Amino acid sequence: MQLNTLSMVHDFLNQSIKPGAFCIDATAGKGRDTALLCRLAGETGRVLAFDIQPDAVTQTRALLEQEGLQAEVFLDSHANMEQYAAPESVDCIVFNFGRLPGGDPNIVTKADSSLQAIDAGLRLLKVGGVMAIALYYGKENGYEERDAVLRHLSALDDRKFSVLQCSWTNRRNDPPMPIFIWKEN
Ligand SMILES: C[S@@+](CC[C@H](N)C(=O)[O-])C[C@H]1O[C@@H](n2cnc3c(N)ncnc32)[C@H](O)[C@@H]1O
Repeated sequence: MQLNTLSMVHDFLNQSIKPGAFCIDATAGKGRDTALLCRLAGETGRVLAFDIQPDAVTQTRALLEQEGLQAEVFLDSHANMEQYAAPESVDCIVFNFGRLPGGDPNIVTKADSSLQAIDAGLRLLKVGGVMAIALYYGKENGYEERDAVLRHLSALDDRKFSVLQCSWTNRRNDPPMPIFIWKEN
């Protein structure tokens, strides 16, 4: 099977999240990442999920119910996630920037709130915590958010964070980029 960004992010989550972990899905969408976080964190863990699109919140709650999983799903911007968790308390945060397939095409993640949310997430991570980003761009998403996110991440203090940015150099049609961040200090 050909590697893709979602499978790489999911492999990373599988390796990084231990039972009892506190996790955040910053872009709930259809809830697939939220469900994976719930399965990995287990019954002793805790999962929060955010989306600004009511349809996404409904779909995520429905998927969790169908799979017998539990998360706290909020209709709110990920830029506000610090209102829901204490600083340095979170083990893992996942972002899937872009738009909800089949959802409102006018609702896409935007550079300003995405950068605010990344910074909020980095403050919430414990030392040793991780962030995974699937960065969709091109088509209706354009390139502004991708460029802003990459610029922002490359300026993070390397004594505090390690950032691994991957790109599919020979694949056509703007494939999403997997990005992994470790909080070191
Ligand atoms: C690519 S989809 C997420 C897919 C999802 N991870 C899944 O597994 O189905 C991106 C989602 O981000 C949401 N979104 C856009 N801006 C947001 C914001 N400021 N805060 C939280 N979610 C946002 C969109 O509504 C959309 O559902």
